[in-house]
Amino acid sequence: MNATVEISSLSQRLKTETSHEHDRMEQLMEKAQVFANKTNYAQHTLAQYYFQQDVENLYRHAEVEKIIPDLDVRGRSQAALQDLEDLGIEPQSEEIATLNVGYPEALGWIYVSEGSTLGAAFLFKEAQAKLGLSAEFGARNLAAYPEGRMRVWKRFKQALDDANFSKEDQDKVIQGALDGFSRFGTLLENLDQLR
Ligand code: HEM
Repeated sequence: MNATVEISSLSQRLKTETSHEHDRMEQLMEKAQVFANKTNYAQHTLAQYYFQQDVENLYRHAEVEKIIPDLDVRGRSQAALQDLEDLGIEPQSEEIATLNVGYPEALGWIYVSEGSTLGAAFLFKEAQAKLGLSAEFGARNLAAYPEGRMRVWKRFKQALDDANFSKEDQDKVIQGALDGFSRFGTLLENLDQLR
């Protein structure tokens, strides 16, 4: 029997090996009834803001900047902060969950944030239809990047794959992604308590 060894790209491994966490996020979002009213939506926006702060803290790694040279077009914490202002909320916490996250794990966290811009297309429509929000008021953090969601996403995946990480380093990126999902999951599980 001929054994064929399939070597997956990092982007493919990330998708496959974190898909159970993605499913869990969808379930948590459903449970939180994010679009049922503005209060729930505002708490979800707080979660987005805190998560984006965690992720953007990782942009400071020089190695991250080398692999992902277009970091300046990414990240949505300022958009989320403006949305919170629209919604009359001022974040009370300055805690950053990624102070001890190193490289290349940092790339896994950024993967979670960048990938979430795809699902955000659906969330953006809900925010518009159910709550009357827009890219100019309250739902900036869910709006597409000016260049378009898919284009910016594909460029991100390509950059990860072009880095040619060893299997061991790929494992670390995947662990970072699992940790990122875990952090967002904790925020979603505790939406009511976020201030
Ligand atoms: C109701 C909530 C959500 C929906 C409906 C949703 C939906 C989607 C969809 C449609 C895609 C594109 C799949 C594809 O083209 O292959 C996607 C990708 C992705 N989403 Fe979500 N999503 C949700 C929540 C989240 C959350 C909360 C996160 C992270 C915090 C997240 C992270 C990701 C990631 C990382 C990808 C990229 C997967 C890949 O590697 O291709 N999603 N999502």
